[in-house]
Amino acid sequence: MRTFNLSDYLLQYLDKTSDTPRNRQLYRLMRQAILDRVLPPDTRLPSSRDLANELQISRNTVLYAYEQLLAEGYVEARAGSGTYVADTVPDTVFMPPTPRGSNAAVSDWAQLSQRGHRLVAHAGASPQQWGAFVPGVPDVTRFPHKIWSSLQSKIWRNPAVATLTYGGGGGYQPLREVVAEYLKGSRSVDCEAGQVVITNGIHQSIDLCLRLLSDPGDVAWVEDPCYWGARNLLTASGITIRPIRVDPEGICPDHADLAVVPRFIFVTPSHQYPLGMVMSLARRRSLLEYAKTHGCWIIEDDYDSEFRYNGRPLASLQGMDSDERVLYMGTFSKTMFPGLRLGYLVLPPSLKQPFVTGMEELHRSGQAPLQATMAEFMIQGHFSSHIRKMRLLYGARLEILQQEIARHFADDVQVVGTDAGLHLALRLPEKCDDQLIAGQAREQGVIVRPLSSYYHVPDSRNAGLVLGYACVNDANIAPAFDVLARIIRRHL
Ligand SMILES: Cc1ncc(COP(=O)(O)O)c(C=O)c1O
Repeated sequence: MRTFNLSDYLLQYLDKTSDTPRNRQLYRLMRQAILDRVLPPDTRLPSSRDLANELQISRNTVLYAYEQLLAEGYVEARAGSGTYVADTVPDTVFMPPTPRGSNAAVSDWAQLSQRGHRLVAHAGASPQQWGAFVPGVPDVTRFPHKIWSSLQSKIWRNPAVATLTYGGGGGYQPLREVVAEYLKGSRSVDCEAGQVVITNGIHQSIDLCLRLLSDPGDVAWVEDPCYWGARNLLTASGITIRPIRVDPEGICPDHADLAVVPRFIFVTPSHQYPLGMVMSLARRRSLLEYAKTHGCWIIEDDYDSEFRYNGRPLASLQGMDSDERVLYMGTFSKTMFPGLRLGYLVLPPSLKQPFVTGMEELHRSGQAPLQATMAEFMIQGHFSSHIRKMRLLYGARLEILQQEIARHFADDVQVVGTDAGLHLALRLPEKCDDQLIAGQAREQGVIVRPLSSYYHVPDSRNAGLVLGYACVNDANIAPAFDVLARIIRRHL
């Protein structure tokens, strides 16, 4: 079992935008971790130099925190061997609990399992899910809710008994059928309805794959940078992540990577998340060949390929797989609305039955009235017509945003990932602290994600910002970008 990772934890909670000096924050976080026994007695602390390097802060900041902990008896120095967490914690454990805030989160940790710790330590979901420039959120105000509501009412007027009992693990059969047809037609996925399992989204699809196909300690290759949600689910399951760099053709393992055969290869071949490139045909072939030779599972996350503005999308990786190595997953979060919580997982034929059973055992199946409404929405053509309308809308918003970026920065920043999806990425010069920029933007009501945070090890060489444009009204794009541009300009 993997142990608590001190620097990951500190990186998560150190707040660069806080008024509290960094050395005080570090001291408090470590003290709380000791009190909560997530840093148990006798744990050897990393040397101040190593910790400073890992956190990319000055050694003096770490030395202050260590000295304070030493003075208060939380740690002890052992001659010639280093600094250790003390056996007996000081009386301050009886002090009133720390107020809610970053330190309080540590107290809550004490009750968690190792798996829970890992999940919470890497949490990435933003509390803000709407407005300029929240990435990955469609314009839910344009959803044709009247059509949806009338389809739903019709189903509820005379609901079949089978829609109100526990359902089968694969989901509502007509939805499985229409999803299979849709994927065959639009994504060249090679499947029939029996291979489709309806889930409540990609997160659940990944979780199901991990529960049924992995054991702690297995290795997963993950694109670097990658989707924070996938990384978090893998980490929480005790999977050892091997970050693999991406080049313009997609995931690009080197010789050392190839020697570490993974259980899973997690990829976004249609639209790399968050940088936006499409995996080349040659790279797809090599990946499939490698997976076949070594018996790896490829997880294909096809989260937003419906929205392509330039060039034709390549068909799914799953459609090229003749050896049953690909688990394909998609979502209605982007094409419909995220609150719907519906997605689909397409399994190789050999896995379909265990997955249907696994879904039943883990989650019990249901939501048939919702799934029946979704099926009708697709069968009656509303789904494809909504996608067509939204593609035009988002394409226009993307153009406005690109014009604004060009107007403010000309060639000072590089824009990537503009061919498809609901977001783009701005690459910033190395000297820019993207976390700080994101924090300052948040204070002024503009939400962006620092690009470096999508990398396995956040690094100033990967400074940038990820901007979603789909959920921003045309008229709000320029004023919101003005605010952001002013902040960025101060850091250039
Ligand atoms: C790459 C990627 N995969 C998966 C998801 C989440 O999908 P779901 O809402 O179906 O869990 C997202 C959401 O932003 C995403 O960006």
